[in-house]
Amino acid sequence: MMEWTDRHCRFFHRLLTRCALIYTEMITTGAVLHGDRTRLMARDPAEHPVALQLGGCDPRQLAECARIAEDFGYDEVNLNAGCPSDRVQNGRFGACLMAEPALVGDCVAAMTATVKLPVTVKCRIGIDDQDPEEALEALTCAVERAGVAALIVHARKAWLDGLSPRENRDIPPLDYARVYRLKAAHPDLCVVLNGGIGDVDQALAHLGRVDGVMMGRAAYQDPWRLLAVDPVLFGEAAPFASPKAAAEALIPYIERELARGTRLHAVTRHVLGLFRGVPGARAFRRHLATEALKPAAGAATFREALGLIVNVDAPMAHTAAA
Ligand SMILES: Cc1cc2nc3c(=O)[nH]c(=O)nc-3n(C[C@H](O)[C@H](O)[C@H](O)COP(=O)(O)O)c2cc1C
Repeated sequence: MMEWTDRHCRFFHRLLTRCALIYTEMITTGAVLHGDRTRLMARDPAEHPVALQLGGCDPRQLAECARIAEDFGYDEVNLNAGCPSDRVQNGRFGACLMAEPALVGDCVAAMTATVKLPVTVKCRIGIDDQDPEEALEALTCAVERAGVAALIVHARKAWLDGLSPRENRDIPPLDYARVYRLKAAHPDLCVVLNGGIGDVDQALAHLGRVDGVMMGRAAYQDPWRLLAVDPVLFGEAAPFASPKAAAEALIPYIERELARGTRLHAVTRHVLGLFRGVPGARAFRRHLATEALKPAAGAATFREALGLIVNVDAPMAHTAAA
């Protein structure tokens, strides 16, 4: 998610779940090919498994970017066919690609021919006045033929004319049934459902009908939910017994990053929701939101914020309260 799932966020989320696949923000092919590639594509080895999401529509450029992603050690490369922003529409990629299934197929074919990495696509069920039955089917057939490893479907349309990107994440109604039907019609294709999944139990419920689930805002805004992913979805122990233990495990990373010149806030802004629903959470957030911005802010600032959480050792009890 743009501006959200940067490398600091991904490192933090990886502390909360060992098993989930994590995605980068969308990076355009132009940025990969002509921008500050080392900075844009930097990732910590601890992030594995991590997928790089690309925005673009030129098969040759996408293939080259996929090759670069492979060199950088990413585990998957994903093509964005769901983002509705104006910038993306001007570039003729993102959600507008829903109207060009043959081109998406060509993009996927060029990437699968170039890399060994799994190539996946993230799309909507349709755009504007498209019929989701036809539009999603056409896109699916095109990418399936091209060797896509999985299709992640944000289960609502994007209305490119008239809604902002933010509105396009909430206003077009969710249609999970359309994605279930897609899976039923393409039993050999890995279909992943996205959109409005609020917690891990809801994710589990979908898994009877699709192969995977992707959580966006709920994972970012309430990262404590991720501590339930490994036990509930993968049958593995949670990496940490409590949000506090996970927060403490972040401290060596914070110290490392500060030594490299990273500002504390760049890391801790992703942690603000970790204690949501727990007494002291508001003071924790407020302390970080103000103090972590100061030039002298360091790991001690983060420790002070942790000290504001009441009963900070509580395991997952607060999950029920949030
Ligand atoms: C701040 C923000 C940035 C996003 N950036 C991207 C992006 O770069 N690529 C993408 O495929 N989706 C992006 N999305 C959409 C989410 O991945 C997801 O499809 C959408 O929020 C619906 O899922 P959710 O209800 O679980 O959040 C973004 C969403 C938000 C809130």
